[in-house]
Amino acid sequence: MSDKALIDRINKETDIVKLVSEFVSLEKRGKNYMGLCPFHDEKTPSFSVSPEKNLAVCMGCRKGGNPVTFLQLIKNVSYEDAIKELADRLGIEVKVENKKKDPNESLYNLMDEATAFYQYALKHTKKGQEAFQYLLDRGLTEEDINHFQIGFAPHADNLYKLLRSKGYPTTDMMKLGLVSQNEEGKYYDIFRSRVIFPIKDSLGRIVGFSGRTTKKTEPAKYINSTETPIFKKGELLYHLSDAKLHSVKQGFVVLNEGFFDVIQTFKAGLKSVVATMGTALTKNHAQQLKKITNHVVVVYDGDNAGIEATLKSIPILKDEKINVSVLHLKDKLDPDEYIKKNGYESYKSLFNDSLQDPYQFGYQIYLKDKDFKRSVDVETFKKQMSALLYKADPAIKKQYEADIYQKYHIQLNLGFVQYELPPKKSVQVNKRVITKAENAIDLILTDLLIHPKRLEQFVEKIGKDKLITSLQQKLASDIYKYYLTTNDDHVNLEYFYAMIDYPEALKIYLDKEVYKRKLKLSDNDFNHCLEAIEEYHQNYLQVETLMNELRTTNDEQRKQEIAQKILEIQKRGKV
Ligand code: CTP
Ligand code: MN
Repeated sequence: MSDKALIDRINKETDIVKLVSEFVSLEKRGKNYMGLCPFHDEKTPSFSVSPEKNLAVCMGCRKGGNPVTFLQLIKNVSYEDAIKELADRLGIEVKVENKKKDPNESLYNLMDEATAFYQYALKHTKKGQEAFQYLLDRGLTEEDINHFQIGFAPHADNLYKLLRSKGYPTTDMMKLGLVSQNEEGKYYDIFRSRVIFPIKDSLGRIVGFSGRTTKKTEPAKYINSTETPIFKKGELLYHLSDAKLHSVKQGFVVLNEGFFDVIQTFKAGLKSVVATMGTALTKNHAQQLKKITNHVVVVYDGDNAGIEATLKSIPILKDEKINVSVLHLKDKLDPDEYIKKNGYESYKSLFNDSLQDPYQFGYQIYLKDKDFKRSVDVETFKKQMSALLYKADPAIKKQYEADIYQKYHIQLNLGFVQYELPPKKSVQVNKRVITKAENAIDLILTDLLIHPKRLEQFVEKIGKDKLITSLQQKLASDIYKYYLTTNDDHVNLEYFYAMIDYPEALKIYLDKEVYKRKLKLSDNDFNHCLEAIEEYHQNYLQVETLMNELRTTNDEQRKQEIAQKILEIQKRGKV
């Protein structure tokens, strides 16, 4: 595959002008062609394409290269994928090394089969035609419908029958949430009488479906695939694998809430667009976005829920060092409705003249309903600004502190110390010593997972260095972060799960009786736990000092004494 002769041939035979023209509009200038550079912002063309040398390079930012490099850069794909695509276009066969077989391959095949079935049903059944008309009425063309592979699930159990006849195992159909079984043991289709949107993973494989009803009376507007081995909603962004192909050229990725928003934004020419599909943006989502862009424009619905979701997304994106802009749509419209009302051109122009700085956006929202003569408003405002600016540069925090002080005479301290992970303890203390304090910490952490209200008290008393296991350290830090970024007074587990990268380990806490029964520690017990942790910490420090002495002393008798002392302390720490 990485055979030099092959790559030379691909670079030589590819028509660079034609290739670049797919992404940049070019004008002939002498022997060469010029256009606006797709890799950086500019007003006068400095992207030069030379058919003679078969090179396309920007004179300004120096990005570009031969056809393979150009395609790799512009589409944000790997070197191998760029070679493969150009080879395909030229009809050159490339051997792909035997990749390890994906254990879920049969599941992906089944999803492809189901997609093809739904697409067929949309065009070739009577009810499907009605659904097709519904899509046309919502402003889609047949081309759009094909591009997004939209289909229709008929009312009867046709998918089950088709897949069965093709020999797919029923267990796989059930595993993928396509089919279920009723009390009499009969199998039936989960998606019925709905327009079907296939949802792809970051590699473009179809992993799930969402079905929209076309009836106004149906209470569930959308139903989605359940969580399956290949469908995890908190890790999927609708249209990501396609958005990736256009993110470099566009310079940013648009983040929407829903399917029709993405489709209409795409039709407006902003092809690098994804949706969180209604759920909250997760850390995992942000990490995936970071891979394809360093600028996200959040265009959620203009209603209150959309504004709230926008505010929550800011620290999560900032945490991945992504630049964020906010585009707020007036009159509570979502992008789809905005476009229907005002047209594509008007929508597009908002990206030139209505993008807002994320912190300014939040600041204005939070100021709106406040009356600083009311102490509770001051308190709320303080919390909101702390959460919003949690991940901001200290210089920005200072700016806001100054502005708020000058205008409203409120002294804010946004430069609080972040509750970072302490370094792992170096001294290995006897396991038995740890137990009592470890239990106390676990008890408190479980309690905080149910009601994080006492977190501030916890953080104040239990400094960075007093937590014992690295899981405890991570969990405390994440609950704190959650609390700061959401201000929720109970932890929304779905959202919290999405924030962390150790969901398995969290089970230890969720399986505890205290958690299951949502018991609340009394203030007395809570304080008791804090004391136990403090006591352990003091013991720990003492043991550490004694250990040091043990290592350095040559006095045998002193050695004995020290060992005795350590034993005593360890006993005290026992459960
Ligand atoms: N959504 C979902 N499940 C639901 C509700 C919503 O998956 N029960 C997702 C869908 O991706 C939907 C998005 O959340 O597109 C936003 O929801 P909402 O704003 O309620 O719907 P719209 O996108 O406006 O739907 P439509 O335009 O079809 O009315
Ligand atoms: Mn909508």
